[in-house]
Amino acid sequence: MRFADKVVLVTGGAKGIGRAAAEAFSREGASVVVADIDDAEGQNVTAALPRALFVHTDVARIADAERAVRQAVAVFGGLDVLFSNAGIQVYSRIEDVTEEHVERAMGINFRGHVWMCKYAVPQMRARGGGAIVCTSSIQALATQMTVPIYAASKAATLALVKGMAMDYAAENIRVNAILPASVDTPMLRNAAKAIAPAGADDLIAQWGRMHPIGRIISADDVARLVLFLCSSDAAAITGGEYVIDGGLLARLPLVMPD
Ligand SMILES: NC(=O)c1ccc[n+]([C@@H]2O[C@H](COP(=O)([O-])OP(=O)(O)OC[C@H]3O[C@@H](n4cnc5c(N)ncnc54)[C@H](O)[C@@H]3O)[C@@H](O)[C@H]2O)c1
Repeated sequence: MRFADKVVLVTGGAKGIGRAAAEAFSREGASVVVADIDDAEGQNVTAALPRALFVHTDVARIADAERAVRQAVAVFGGLDVLFSNAGIQVYSRIEDVTEEHVERAMGINFRGHVWMCKYAVPQMRARGGGAIVCTSSIQALATQMTVPIYAASKAATLALVKGMAMDYAAENIRVNAILPASVDTPMLRNAAKAIAPAGADDLIAQWGRMHPIGRIISADDVARLVLFLCSSDAAAITGGEYVIDGGLLARLPLVMPD
C-alpha cells in the first residue's frame, strides 16, 4: 500500500500501459484519476476501481489538461503523482509528412506532457512534493524506418524531463522518463495487424524473440517500474531515463554458430 492517501493522475489510462498503471496504483491504495479521450474504456476502468474518476481529456489541448488537474483536486483534495503517458504512434518518411501529422504527434506525445506538468506542478508544490513519470520510448535512442517524427517526439520528452527535474528538485518534485521497447498493448497489436493482417500474432512473437528475454514487455512490467519511480523507494531518483526493454538495446546484432 505504497500509495495509501495519495492522489494519482494517469493520462492514457483507458488502455494499455496507462490502464495497467492505473489499476496497479489503485491496488496500492491510491485515489486514481484516468484522463483519456476514450470515454467508454476510461469509464470501464474507473468503474472497477474503489476511488477513481474518469475525466475526458485530450492532452494536446491546454484547457483539457487544466480541467483534468482541477477535477482531481476538486474530487480528491490534491495531486501527488502524475503518470503522463498518453501517446500515439505515427508512421511517415520525412518527405511525406504533413503539418497535421507533425501537429498531432508533437501535440499529443510532447506538448501533452508540457500541459499536464504545467498544471500538476503547482498542486504538487501545495502538497510538499510529488512525482512525475513521462512515457518516452526506446525510439528516442535507437529507431527504425518510417517513424522519425514519433522518435523525435519521444527524444524531446527526455530533454523536457531533465529540464523539469532541475527546476523542481529542491521542492521535492521528482521527474523521470521511462523508455519501453515493445509492450503488449492495443497500440502494438494494431501496429502488428496493420503490417501483417493475417499473421499479427506470429509477428508479435517474432518481435518478442528479438528481445534477449525472449518476449515482449507486458503492460504490468511497465506499471511496476512506474510505481517504483513514483514511490518513496525512489526518493533519490530524479531526471532519470529508465529503459525497460528486455535487453534489446544491449544486444549486438552478431550471429554466432549454434
Ligand atoms: N506499446 C508499445 O510498444 C510502446 C513502446 C514504447 C512507448 N510506448 C508509449 O507508451 C504510451 C502508452 O502506449 P500504449 O502502448 O499503452 O498505447 P495504447 O494505444 O494501447 O493506449 C494509449 C491510450 O492513450 C489514449 N490517448 C491517445 N491520444 C490521447 C490524447 N490526445 N489525450 C489523452 N489520451 C489519449 C488512448 O485513448 C489510449 O487509451 C505512449 O506514449 C506510447 O508512445 C508504447
